[in-house]
Amino acid sequence: MKKLTYLFLLAQLLLLGSLNAQPYKPSAGIDAKVNALLAKMTLDEKIGQLTLYTTDWGSTGPTIREGYKNDIRSGACGNLFNSHTVGFVRELQRVAVEETRLKIPLLFGFDVIHGYKTIFPIPLGEAACWDLEAIELSAHIAAAEAASAGLNWTFAPMVDVTRDPRWGRVMEGAGEDTWLGCRIAEARVHGFQGKKLGNTDAVLACVKHYAAYGASTAGRDYNTVDMSERFFREYYLPPYKAAVQAGAATVMTSFNDYDGVPATGNKYLLTTILRNEWGFKGFVVTDYTSMNEMVNHGVIADEKEAGELSLNAGVDMDMQGSIYQRFLKQSVKQGKVLQKQIDEAARRVLRLKFELGLFDDPYRFCNEERQNATLLSADHRKAAREVSRKSIVLLKNDKNVLPLQRNQKIALIGPLADNKSELIGNWNGAGNADDCVTVAAGLQGWSLTHVKGCDIEGSDKSGFDAALAAARNADVVVVAVGEKAMMSGEAASRTDITLPGVQEELVLELCKTGKPVVVVLMNGRPLAIPQIAQNATAILETWWLGTETGNAIADVLSGAYNPAGRLPMSFPRSVGQVPVFYNERSTGRPYNPDSKWTSRYIDEVNAPLYPFGFGLSYTTFSYSQPTATVSFAANDASKRYPKSPVTVQVTVTNTGKMAGEEVAQLYVRDLVGSVTRPVRELKGFQKIMLQPGESKTLTFTLKAEDLGFYRRNMTFGTEPGEYDIMVGGSSQDVKTVRVRLEK
Ligand code: NOJ
Repeated sequence: MKKLTYLFLLAQLLLLGSLNAQPYKPSAGIDAKVNALLAKMTLDEKIGQLTLYTTDWGSTGPTIREGYKNDIRSGACGNLFNSHTVGFVRELQRVAVEETRLKIPLLFGFDVIHGYKTIFPIPLGEAACWDLEAIELSAHIAAAEAASAGLNWTFAPMVDVTRDPRWGRVMEGAGEDTWLGCRIAEARVHGFQGKKLGNTDAVLACVKHYAAYGASTAGRDYNTVDMSERFFREYYLPPYKAAVQAGAATVMTSFNDYDGVPATGNKYLLTTILRNEWGFKGFVVTDYTSMNEMVNHGVIADEKEAGELSLNAGVDMDMQGSIYQRFLKQSVKQGKVLQKQIDEAARRVLRLKFELGLFDDPYRFCNEERQNATLLSADHRKAAREVSRKSIVLLKNDKNVLPLQRNQKIALIGPLADNKSELIGNWNGAGNADDCVTVAAGLQGWSLTHVKGCDIEGSDKSGFDAALAAARNADVVVVAVGEKAMMSGEAASRTDITLPGVQEELVLELCKTGKPVVVVLMNGRPLAIPQIAQNATAILETWWLGTETGNAIADVLSGAYNPAGRLPMSFPRSVGQVPVFYNERSTGRPYNPDSKWTSRYIDEVNAPLYPFGFGLSYTTFSYSQPTATVSFAANDASKRYPKSPVTVQVTVTNTGKMAGEEVAQLYVRDLVGSVTRPVRELKGFQKIMLQPGESKTLTFTLKAEDLGFYRRNMTFGTEPGEYDIMVGGSSQDVKTVRVRLEK
């Protein structure tokens, strides 16, 4: 009987596991409808379903062709992007369902990256909140707004792990960590796709950019990528898999190559891994003209061959390249691709159109009333304020200058203090800068003098004197400095990651007045700010927070909210340290600042300025020595669900005077492996609220896969031996317990 109960429980666990983690699965019944439709379609019409064109509403890439209406009418274009709002979409959908032979509705895609109309923090900023529910909610609100304004597909989440802050697209992802990236990828997919595809508050998610786009050499956008398969599978690949297993319906290829083959023509990525290993059932779309760009990569001679390479590799849909439209029919005739491959690709696209309910009601995502009620609703703004303040990271707070006191006179300085245009960041959907709350507006009611001081860029220092005078007359200086929104995002890599223009000089001059200086940073990447770190009294990293920027920052400055954000990416001391990241592998000559012959620089320490996982609070926390129990053997782990995972316990206490949240982070290190292992890797975290003096004992459980890795022979699993389990408030501030996995 006992055995039966055990088996039943095990079956339930396995079932639960598979329900929680399974790739998108089409609903039963749809296949028959798709087959019936496919049977009526000409080859041209099928290829039309594999074609995606931008409208002339916005440009998210180089213009290589114009026009799309006639293509819709003829059935040559079955999907559009960069078209939104009810009126516009409705008219285009009408052409598709009234004027084409088979009346197949269009998909409408758009880059809804961190909000549609209500703009949330940029994804890198949001990753700093270490609150998966908040991240899911933000994606869900973005989806609900987009799906009221005609859209049914977002080109998000971007799950590219990156260690290079020079890369402009660092703002769109979740930072440098693989495990955190996986959890955030899942949260975002769940948020975008909601409870069920077809609901009018859900859109198709598109995992991008598959794969390893975040490893562009030298942080230069569109550059090539080269890495070992071990490195790829361990650090870069897992977030795509997590997103696919969370049910993401579509995947976008990346611009770069992997192992010498551009991702868009890479069968190993698109078929071997994505379809065969992970069981992905949705469709794959190229990035913008990435199919055409394989000619520049020099792996094929012309665009026709690019189409053949792509389809044979596993690409279903051509974004903007018009290669499938122009050449695929001919390729079929010549036997370069098979008609049945085109059928299969069209089947994947049509299935999702059925799944979305577009055949029942092609206008289900175009509802004027819903659009008016949904966009920028009070609830959405409230949620944005909440997520925004959660995303702020307190990097420094000398003498507890923060929170500010209500009776203090504030000199509010800096080009971003009363600026609206930059606050929505890059990839800002349909967001309006005018809807944003500036820092000055957020601090309304305080005793404020506002002086700009300088511009974001340029060398003009004529505003310094007025800024310094305002500082001298105040009790405290709040200075908002940073980047322009367009300095990060696509095609926005920088070699210099310091504050642009004369902003740093302004801050340092303000520090010389002797007044406490609170620096509010607004930027899309980790910046190198060692001088500011040394001289400012307090620093808040606020990224680009979006619509509710000023209110969220005011909540933190005033102490109405105690900041609890933690960095999802290390901040280097200088660009010369890049890439600098916390989960590096052990070297043979570990860093020793006193020994020349170790892995180090002669002019700088190895550690970043602020490490991954770092962030302060207005209160303080202490950790007990963690304890751990192990009850599964190493060689059990790769074979079945571990009977009893490793359990770790630690007690966290609020040792300060204010209630606050702590992000307790758990890292592991395999001390002796068959290959070199990272010095630490995040494998769990818990965010907890503690009242002053309050303690909580936290329990973490580690599954076999958390201790597993690609072993010498490239199989995934654990090895017997000792592991350090570390728990603490940042990647560099931990307490350790050692455990042993027996054979
Ligand atoms: C190119 C970008 O790389 C991709 O992220 C985006 O979704 C497409 N353009 C469409 O705008």
